[in-house]
Amino acid sequence: MDTARVVIDPAFRIGEADRRLFGSFVEHLGRCVYGGVFEPGHPAADALGLRGDVLELTRELGVSVVRYPGGNFVSGYRWEDGVGPVGDRPRRLDPAWKSVETNAFGLNEFMVWARAAGVEPMMAVNLGTRGVQEACDLLEYANHPGGTHLSDLRRRHGAAEPYGIRLWCLGNELDGPWQIGHKTAEEYGRLAAETARAMKMIDPGVSLVACGSSGRGMPTFAAWEATVLEHTYEHVDYISAHSYYDPTDGDRASILASAVDMDAFIADVVATADHVAAKHRHTRRLKISFDEWNVWYMSRPQDAERPAWTSAPPLLEDEYTATDAVVVGDLLVTLLRHADRVGVACQAQLVNVIGPIRTRDGGPAWRQSIFHPFALTARYARGTVLRTEPAGPSHDTARYGAVPSLSTVAVHDEETGALSVFAVNRAETDLAVDLDVRGLPGLAVAEHLAIAAGDAVNTAGHPDAVAPRRLDPPALDAGRGTVRLAGASWNLIRLTPAG
Ligand code: AHR
Repeated sequence: MDTARVVIDPAFRIGEADRRLFGSFVEHLGRCVYGGVFEPGHPAADALGLRGDVLELTRELGVSVVRYPGGNFVSGYRWEDGVGPVGDRPRRLDPAWKSVETNAFGLNEFMVWARAAGVEPMMAVNLGTRGVQEACDLLEYANHPGGTHLSDLRRRHGAAEPYGIRLWCLGNELDGPWQIGHKTAEEYGRLAAETARAMKMIDPGVSLVACGSSGRGMPTFAAWEATVLEHTYEHVDYISAHSYYDPTDGDRASILASAVDMDAFIADVVATADHVAAKHRHTRRLKISFDEWNVWYMSRPQDAERPAWTSAPPLLEDEYTATDAVVVGDLLVTLLRHADRVGVACQAQLVNVIGPIRTRDGGPAWRQSIFHPFALTARYARGTVLRTEPAGPSHDTARYGAVPSLSTVAVHDEETGALSVFAVNRAETDLAVDLDVRGLPGLAVAEHLAIAAGDAVNTAGHPDAVAPRRLDPPALDAGRGTVRLAGASWNLIRLTPAG
């Protein structure tokens, strides 16, 4: 069996495990809103129509931030359609997803849901078909206390207190030719800078995200970031990154190594942002908002057969395998490893649409395979993220060449003394990992949970086909021990103060 070595020491500090790294995303797309978080008349729904079973799973998932209302949808959205008496709200075409938007769910329903879920809202403004004024109007409606037309309108709509929404995305994926109102980097950079300046005049407490590239493979990648940041650097707090990994696209070794691409993506964006900072003598370092990431079966034929112009059609309802859970676990390891530069991250999306939660209209809600690594990472990655720099074997992949077989990160909770080690064995063969935690004396392994890759999926009938397995925890001798990681597996090794 191959062996690897991991040394964990509190001196190797990366940064705090920001709770905002465990974000998710609710878009008006398919059945994410309608039939997902919101289904009036469902047996588990409250008087407003919020599904209690989905709320419960959202809380269990440990989601911290939820981005809303899109995605591609936001680039054609009129936020005012979704507020006020429901009977007066217009039905509109949503060109992004060729659907009909009823507007039965809007900002105020989302804010009630966010409070019930215990999550921080992250709003996106429409910079596709709209501009500075509409972004300011939405901000005034949401965050201004009262005494103006739009803030008083919110009060009349039942929200007496301002929402105080801190995180705002300045549009979505405007580098993409598929985007409604697609722009050049120059056009978007100017618009984003002016929108940011005006929004900060209204509410200086907001944190703003400029659109980075919608993928590292975009022909304009890096040049887009550089130009956009030339215009926006001093006005924004984050630059976004989006990345999806398609399990049907390529060899299994490459799929299992998807996080290698995310790692390089983050490094490239950091380098580009720091170049702009150096050029303009900015001392403040920009962070990344990785506000769309996931595994997505993009090339599945079902996605080509969309029923056009219906309301809440079942779109992008991917069923995730145990292998996908291993990949998602590794993507989370990668985000944590960049905790010094990634400040927000949102798995896309929350429910039904490429989501960790699935539902049936009028029926049950259940956890997909990818729910588990997310929930366990969100629960245990608390405290200081520690660099592990594993020394071990590498193996070949068609897409990325030779990749390290072992991907790890450790998080030390100074309050409880607990240490959580997240480890992915990307290789097909078992790996013996020599763990050295002498830098944190007095720890014992409390638990070893693992998910091994495979084709099993969770369904309404078999909701627990894929779940973490509890393995025998290895013994430590004076701070050293060996953990065996199965081939192609995601692992959580929890160490707590002994005795
Ligand atoms: O998450 C699904 C879609 O992927 C989003 O609407 C868009 O921003 C991205 O291309």
